[in-house]
Parts: sequence; structure tokens; C-alpha cells
Amino acid sequence: MSAELLVESVSKAFPGVQALDKVNLALHGGTVHALLGENGAGKSTLIKIITGVYRADAGNLKTNGEERFFDSPIEATHAGIAVVHQERNLIAEFSVEENITLHNPPLRLGIIDRTERTRLANEALTTLGFEIDLNERIKNLSVAQMQLVEIAKALVTKAQIILLDEPTASITAGETVKLFEVISRLKSQGTAILFVSHKLEEVYEICDTVTVLRDGVSVLESKPLANYKQSEIVDLMVGRHLADRKVVIRKVDRQVNAVLELKNLKTSLGHESVSLSLYPGEVLGMYGLVGAGRSELARSILGLHEITGGEILLGGKSVKIKSFRDALHVHRIGYVTENRKEEGLFLDFSVRKNVSVTILSKILQKLGIIHVGKEDVVASKYVDRLGIKVVDNDQLAGTLSGGNQQKVSVSKWLAAETKILIIDEPTVGVDVRTKASFHELITELADEGLSIILISSDLAEIIAISDRILVMRDYELVGEVENTKDYPSISRSIMSSIHSGS
Ligand SMILES: Nc1ncnc2c1ncn2[C@@H]1O[C@H](COP(=O)(O)OP(=O)(O)OP(=O)(O)O)[C@@H](O)[C@H]1O
Ligand SMILES: [Mg+2]
Repeated sequence: MSAELLVESVSKAFPGVQALDKVNLALHGGTVHALLGENGAGKSTLIKIITGVYRADAGNLKTNGEERFFDSPIEATHAGIAVVHQERNLIAEFSVEENITLHNPPLRLGIIDRTERTRLANEALTTLGFEIDLNERIKNLSVAQMQLVEIAKALVTKAQIILLDEPTASITAGETVKLFEVISRLKSQGTAILFVSHKLEEVYEICDTVTVLRDGVSVLESKPLANYKQSEIVDLMVGRHLADRKVVIRKVDRQVNAVLELKNLKTSLGHESVSLSLYPGEVLGMYGLVGAGRSELARSILGLHEITGGEILLGGKSVKIKSFRDALHVHRIGYVTENRKEEGLFLDFSVRKNVSVTILSKILQKLGIIHVGKEDVVASKYVDRLGIKVVDNDQLAGTLSGGNQQKVSVSKWLAAETKILIIDEPTVGVDVRTKASFHELITELADEGLSIILISSDLAEIIAISDRILVMRDYELVGEVENTKDYPSISRSIMSSIHSGS
């Protein structure tokens, strides 16, 4: 019998929000089913209900003909359901191998069979074509590698039903291709796959059927995806028609002194000689594939890794930046990290605190006390501007949907009133509508004089908002393009610098 999962009229409320309202979804073996919706629409909540993490308030769940909800994730695993959750669930101190086999460690005479464990983990990674050292500890991996381990961990269970919550959010295009090959193979073997992503191109590439959630309601239920144009799907998600954005070419004066200059910068991580200038009010895009050394460059500039040669100049003066703190408080440089979960947010703090934390000292200075009202004004401004879905500003950041956490983490830095802002992959996991607001906001901040370095692996994003684009490959700058915003010609020149000489 081929796998089948039926969600019938499932509801779930959290304090202040109806996360799911009588949602229906039919997932069948041999198909890839897209679950789409804006940030906070209820996608992850539905997946957590199916897998026994949360309990539904009402409705039914049928798995392979059997009607019942699972009381715990373990029960769901035993019933043949595997899941990659949106947030990481790895144990930082354990090795890659231990994490992959965590739920079903191979036993021999009651103790863990290490040879078999290595074989299983190795097999899971090789099937995926991923190269990661099995003995490396999770804490030493990059965000992308952690995601790959999560995927391997789900696939090793040979489940009949696989739920993937934004599996491609932080992996490379090459790794995505490999993942899709595996998904196709599983599909042909009769596995039922649920796939969540904000990248609609890839949804169209691999999905057969689609369910769209809007504010917890399934506004499109288990229909063939091919019957809908991308713009129709977006309209269903957003609930109205999104206007096309007009292309604006900004004028940046590069005759004046640069605000930031790197001269032949050499780092302990492998940059040999990076030189660049950033001008007042400029949005400097830094494109490259994941792993090209862009975040590593940013983190070195900010004092996290050693500078072993060359110079950093701010306003023409040579500086040594010691730490993130130093960068922010002394030099007024902010950094929106790509590693939001670990570095970007205080999950146990309210949205209000998170947004205003970087300007706390300023609020303090002016008022002598931490002024809740003032914090609220700042928080509300960004909550409104980016459409952050919160019950109120007191909601804990940890209870927001993944994309909304992302928005809070970016807002915090936008609120910091820095002179230079380095933004690393700002829209990973962010829905289409918010992505457009982010882009507008970034342009607006630049218009107000903020100088911005935008690191992104999303070519369309880089071209939409940068004034100038640098291309990095293997820790080296390999190209510079003045952005005319003519998508076809700009993307061709970027791609040719990425591939030249390789
Ligand atoms: N543990 C929780 N406590 C309180 N509210 C929650 C909790 N988990 C989710 N919510 C709320 O439920 C709603 C749906 O969130 P969910 O995480 O399912 O969204 P999503 O569709 O996965 O969004 P994203 O694309 O951003 O990941 C949001 O308003 C969120 O704040
Ligand atoms: Mg989610």
C-alpha cells in the first residue's frame, strides 16, 4: 500500500492567535506536496501537530488508514513519519554520526554498534552526495552543513512519509540539486513528501500538488500545482494582488571619501588580499555561492577572526576592530548575522526587548532609565513596517514563526542607527511580500545616508537593491559590476566572473 496522510479540519490556537483553523490536507505516496503561505501562516504548526510535537485542539489525522494523533515525536517516527523541522534539532556537542543516528541508534547485544552506526551515517550522507566529516562535532559546522545533517538524519529512517520544513533555506544551489534528486528518487519509490519553501521557483520544480495557508486557513487544498500560475499562488498567499515593483537606479557619489576601505586584507581564514571601498549611502552587494568566504570576511572585519595583513580604514583612518561590541559602540558598524538562531535573537526575551536592545544604551543615556514606552515606539515602528506577525510587543521572540523571528533580528539592527550595516542573507526564509518590504527599507536607509554591505546568495535580491555588485569566489574578489538593474545582462556578467578561470 502506498503511503497516505490525511489532515482533516485541524485547528490549533496559541494565546492571542488562531494558528490553524479547520485545515485540510491530503498527502499521497508518490507525490511531492507543497505547503505554502506567508510567514506566520501556520505551516510549521501543522507539521508539529502531524509529528506529535503539539496537540491539536480539534480535527483528525489519518496515517495509512489509521485514525489518531501522535502523542509524541517518537510515536510519529515509529509510525513511519520523518521530519526536518525549520529550527535545528541537533546536539551541538555530539558528532555528525551520532546526530544522524540519534533516534534509531543501531544496537548489538544492547549496546551501540559503532561500526554499523558509521556505515548508516555514511550511507545517508553519500546517498545525498554531501561531504561532511562524520566525526566532526556539530558545533563546528556551518549553518549549511547543519542543515544537511538534519536532512540526512530524516532520510536515514527510511520513512514512508517525509515532512520537510524549509529544507533548502540555507544550503547551496548545488546541494539543493542533490536534495531534489533524492526527493525524486523517493517519490518514484512511493514515498509521500510534504515540502515547505518560500522559494517558489523550486516549488514549481519539484512539487506536484499544493496547499496554501493564509492566517491559519487552508485557502487552497491539495490541488495540482500545474493548474496555477506563480502569480495566482502568490495572490492566494497574500490575499490580494501584489503590485510589480518599479526599478530605481540610485545615484551614489563615489568622488567623496569612502566610509569603509579594505586594503589588501588578509585573514586567518584564507582571504589573501581583499580590497574594496564602500561609499556613503551606497548599497554594495556581495554575491557569491554559499561558502565563498563572504560571511567570513564580514566576521573578520568585525574582529571575530584574526586579520593577518593589510588594513581596514574607516573614514580614511586605519582602525583595529576588536569585537562586535567594539564595532557597534565605537565604530557604529552593525552586523545582521545569517546565524539568527544562535547569534541574532534572545528567544526568551520579548519582541520589544529584541528590537530595542541595540539602542538600549541610547534610550538609557537620554532618559536615565529604561523606558518601556520608548522601547515600544521603536519596536512598533518595525513591527508595522515589516508586518511582523505578533500578538503584541510582549510576545517572546521564541514563539514567533521562523520568518517572523528573522524579521525581528533584522529590525534590531535597522533600529541601531549605525553608520555602516553589514547584512548577511537578510531574506532567507522570508515570504515574498516581506521580502519586498525589506528591500524598500534597505533602499530607504541608504537614501538616508547609511552605507550597506549586502551579502546574499539570491541573485534576484542582489540585483534588485545593490548599486554596485562585488563577486566573491574562494575567498577572493573575482568581479565588480555596476548595477544597471538589467537582470539578464547583469546576471550574465556575475555568472561569468563566478566561473571565469575555474
Ligand atoms: N509555541 C508557540 N507559542 C505561541 N505562538 C506560537 C507558537 N508557535 C507558533 N505560534 C504562532 O502561530 C502562528 C503560526 O506560526 P508558524 O510557525 O506555524 O508559521 P509558519 O507558516 O511556519 O511561518 P514561517 O514561514 O515564518 O516559518 C504565528 O502567529 C506564531 O507566532
Ligand atoms: Mg515555519
